[in-house]
Amino acid sequence: MMRAISIFTALLLALLREGPSCVQAVEFGYFPDNITVLEGQSVILRCKIDEEVTHKAWLNRSNILFTGNEKWSLDTRVSMANNNDSDFSIQIERVAVADEGPYTCSFQARTQPRTAHVYLIVQVPARIVNISQDKSVNEGDDVNLFCLAIGRPEPTITWKDLKSGRTYEGEFLDITEIKRHQAEEFVCITNNGVAPPDTHHVKVTVNYPPMITDIKNMPAQVGKPAILRCEAMAVPMAAFEWYRDDRRLSASDNAVQIKTEKTRSLLLFTNVTEKHFGNYTCFASNRLGATNASMLLFRPGAVYGGSVSLSACLSGLVFWLSLSISVLLKV
Ligand SMILES: *[C@@H]1O[C@H](CO)[C@@H](O)[C@H](O)[C@H]1NC(C)=O
Ligand SMILES: *[C@@H]1O[C@H](CO)[C@@H](O)[C@H](O)[C@H]1NC(C)=O
Ligand SMILES: *[C@@H]1O[C@H](CO)[C@@H](O)[C@H](O)[C@H]1NC(C)=O
Ligand SMILES: *[C@@H]1O[C@H](CO)[C@@H](O)[C@H](O)[C@H]1NC(C)=O
Ligand SMILES: *[C@@H]1O[C@H](CO)[C@@H](O)[C@H](O)[C@H]1NC(C)=O
Ligand SMILES: *[C@@H]1O[C@H](CO)[C@@H](O)[C@H](O)[C@H]1NC(C)=O
Ligand SMILES: *[C@@H]1O[C@H](CO)[C@@H](O)[C@H](O)[C@H]1NC(C)=O
Repeated sequence: MMRAISIFTALLLALLREGPSCVQAVEFGYFPDNITVLEGQSVILRCKIDEEVTHKAWLNRSNILFTGNEKWSLDTRVSMANNNDSDFSIQIERVAVADEGPYTCSFQARTQPRTAHVYLIVQVPARIVNISQDKSVNEGDDVNLFCLAIGRPEPTITWKDLKSGRTYEGEFLDITEIKRHQAEEFVCITNNGVAPPDTHHVKVTVNYPPMITDIKNMPAQVGKPAILRCEAMAVPMAAFEWYRDDRRLSASDNAVQIKTEKTRSLLLFTNVTEKHFGNYTCFASNRLGATNASMLLFRPGAVYGGSVSLSACLSGLVFWLSLSISVLLKV
């Protein structure tokens, strides 16, 4: 049993050692072996013969490359790899796509002509050769992305939306009326199994006008600091302005400071006085549009809450009411 296994193993090893680039001396008409090689690499085409062989030649299609030791090919990449009584092999360096095709080892033994065929397959890793540039579009625009790839065998091309993870087959990705939530990165992946896939990222920026998301009426106490906040989503990022009723507040106003961070602007009161109570408007704009929202800096005691855009009128009423009551009480 052990012996059988070891013989089998030896056979297997022998077969493996021969490798795919081994060309058996076989009768004409035998379905050719394929040898697969990457573009740019070297390959040895082997032909097994025996001492009875008197004439031998290697051909590329119908062109003679070698007859015996004599080189016919003018191609410097073609050379004799081995030539003795049992082995007649040639080497092709820096294999090109044009080298793909049938090669024939032709020889004569005991006046019998014999041939061995091998089919050389040249593979080229999939590679992206042209792809859309990063884009900046407005919300609602149609976006067309393309990704061109080459390779042998013909590669597959897939687009992937990195946000949703969804994939789309093919060179072209068409998005109709793009929405702001689709803004993100897309990746083109091309693969033909020859080498790791080639990928390329394309960024699509979706521009949209500002949308004020977070504002609140704020209570404040005389003699204490206070802050009004205005948050806006926008691409490109919004520019902010603050108004007190109809008057634009400037950063140079010593009563207030305006501090604008990426997506929000803060109106800072270092020391609230009576005249600070009132109605403030945050104005956010970019080149696609503008929006505004108003909020109150109010004296505590009255209960406020919720978003101003809905309750501005009501809270304004309460504010003026509480202001008038306090004025009345002071008198
Ligand atoms: C050789 O390659 C061709 C096409 O590339 C294929 O049809 C054929 O089956 C292959 N032959 C062998 C023996 O692998
Ligand atoms: C022919 O060359 C091959 C490879 O170098 C070698 O393995 C083989 O023994 C040689 N055969 C003869 C008959 O010299
Ligand atoms: C094989 O023949 C083709 C077609 O004639 C040619 O383009 C190619 O360079 C040749 N390759 C070799 C290695 O001779
Ligand atoms: C890539 O494709 C675009 C659009 O088809 C074309 O205008 C451009 O010339 C191509 N670039 C290259 C390097 O082929
Ligand atoms: C706030 O302003 C009032 C009146 O101008 C002043 O009396 C008070 O000291 C100030 N408080 C602070 C903390 O600066
Ligand atoms: C503020 O927004 C309202 C609609 O919400 C609009 O009617 C008004 O013109 C805007 N004001 C400014 C200064 O843009
Ligand atoms: C605050 O001012 C804005 C703009 O001037 C106005 O639309 C809003 O009604 C005012 N709110 C209150 C409570 O007065």
